[in-house]
Amino acid sequence: MKPKVLLPQKWRDPVIYEEALEILRSVAEIEYVSKERFEEQLAEAEGMVGYGVGEEILQKAPKLKVVARYGVGYDDCDVEALTRHKVYLVYTPGVLSDSVADMTIALLLACNRKIVQADRYVRRRWAKEAAGYPDYGVDLKGKIIGIIGLGRIGYEVAKRCARGFDMKVIYHDIRRNEKAETELGAKRKSLEEVMRKSDFVSIHLPLTPQTRGLIKEEHLRMMKKTAYLINTARGAVIDQKALTKVLEEKAIAGAGLDVFEEEPVPLDDPLLKLENVVLTPHIASLTKEARRAMAICNARSISAVLRGDIPPPNVVPEQEGMIFKK
Ligand code: 8YV
Repeated sequence: MKPKVLLPQKWRDPVIYEEALEILRSVAEIEYVSKERFEEQLAEAEGMVGYGVGEEILQKAPKLKVVARYGVGYDDCDVEALTRHKVYLVYTPGVLSDSVADMTIALLLACNRKIVQADRYVRRRWAKEAAGYPDYGVDLKGKIIGIIGLGRIGYEVAKRCARGFDMKVIYHDIRRNEKAETELGAKRKSLEEVMRKSDFVSIHLPLTPQTRGLIKEEHLRMMKKTAYLINTARGAVIDQKALTKVLEEKAIAGAGLDVFEEEPVPLDDPLLKLENVVLTPHIASLTKEARRAMAICNARSISAVLRGDIPPPNVVPEQEGMIFKK
């Protein structure tokens, strides 16, 4: 009998998932997660694509060998518990960098050129009002993009800004990115300098104990009054209450946010009342190419473990080099 692999319901969509499903079918029997039968399914599963996996799920899944996080961020999974239970955690680094970088630029442009407000204006007011649309944007050429976290995604954003828009790139990262410095003229600065000097600040950090709440009110208050903050990484990297406050006070020009401390954002969240924010529902990696590639990446890692081909590709850095036998 083939080992069982649990998949989210949305993996039924053949347009995005067919190739990944084929890889999995060659080694496993596929089951789609059912709310009613979840515990029973966990008891038999040897692999799963899931999120939020920790002790509670692991206790109920004694045969589990591998959990695939459908994404590059795995802050919602308990790596310590997974390691203790000898379960590999695999993820999808690299394959969604273009998609997330594109979305970052979309939010940057939407904020700067007031695309959302302009759309509302055309629908509701343009034909009724003689005066033209009032709000100015700025040309991006020569402006400074400040990137917090210059890894794979940050680099793609820096490249688009430097090569596509002739912007100057500064960055803050615990590691130096020599490639970005040589190829894009990026300059490494302290967090405070990036906040002070940038016309646009874009966050590209993973959420870890070190980065949680890293961007505090004091940092937001260092930003230029004309500057925008873009976040396509994780909401909790920024103190969201403080961000809401500085946006309400118009202490910065605005923000483009794809991620939030709590998702979905509660309908009574004060952020939703602000005009100087562009909000999207965590969709930065939502392109057909990225989602297809993420699924294939997960499928290859899962099938490697089930074939006994270990350690699997794209295991999380904390488990690198570890061999689990079950
Ligand atoms: C996905 C993400 O939306 O890669 C990540 O870390 O947050 C996103 O790409 C998410 O993982 C889909 O479940």
